[in-house]
Amino acid sequence: MGDLFWNKIIAAVLATALVVFGIRELGHALIHPHQPEEPGYKIAVAEDGGGDKKEAEVVEVVSLAQMLSTASASAGERTAKKCAACHSFDKGGANKIGPNLWDILGRKAGTHEGFGYSTAMVEFGKTWDFETLDAFVSSPKSVVPGTAMSFAGLKKPKDAANILTYFRTLSDAPMDLPAVAAKAADAAEAMPETTHE
Ligand code: HEC
Repeated sequence: MGDLFWNKIIAAVLATALVVFGIRELGHALIHPHQPEEPGYKIAVAEDGGGDKKEAEVVEVVSLAQMLSTASASAGERTAKKCAACHSFDKGGANKIGPNLWDILGRKAGTHEGFGYSTAMVEFGKTWDFETLDAFVSSPKSVVPGTAMSFAGLKKPKDAANILTYFRTLSDAPMDLPAVAAKAADAAEAMPETTHE
């Protein structure tokens, strides 16, 4: 029985290892469909600690950038009607239930003149860039818990991207859209080199 017993144990260990590797490979494949199958590169990324996290962030930025590059400001203007009960969008427009949103990209949260913000928004205090604003309009209460903005959030990522490209036009000096192709290519090409050195 001894031999058979150990055979079973070894088989079980191997099977587990296979499943674990399988899931990891699958994960990589899903996150990075264009990543070359090069084990040396993967180990280098794993070893520099937090490499995986960095990778995930890059992917996120790229995907929002890509959404924005194909988004429509005029569709965004239509979607913004959902906000118009509480917000005005014109330069120097009045604060309503919510603050005026002219020049919102690049504004520090909770700082528009003459508007009484919640403590939560003032304490949040981040500058509204594409990413932060995308997250906020998609789910205000999860980004700024305790916000006075009683709006559930735009459920479709496309609506959020459209509205962001519309907001970008609400400025005398529109913020640059995040670069798409260049960034994706840089990240894919530069990373193996920097991690190998
Ligand atoms: C029911 C009213 C209401 C609706 C609808 C609404 N908002 Fe708001 N919004 C507010 C209020 C109130 C605040 C201030 C929140 C605070 O102080 O916590 C706010 C704040 C904001 C801010 C932060 C502004 C700053 O100066 O920091 C942004 C950005 C914003 N809203 C975008 C939107 C967008 C985009 C929509 C539509 C998709 C929308 N809001 C719909 C009431 C609303």
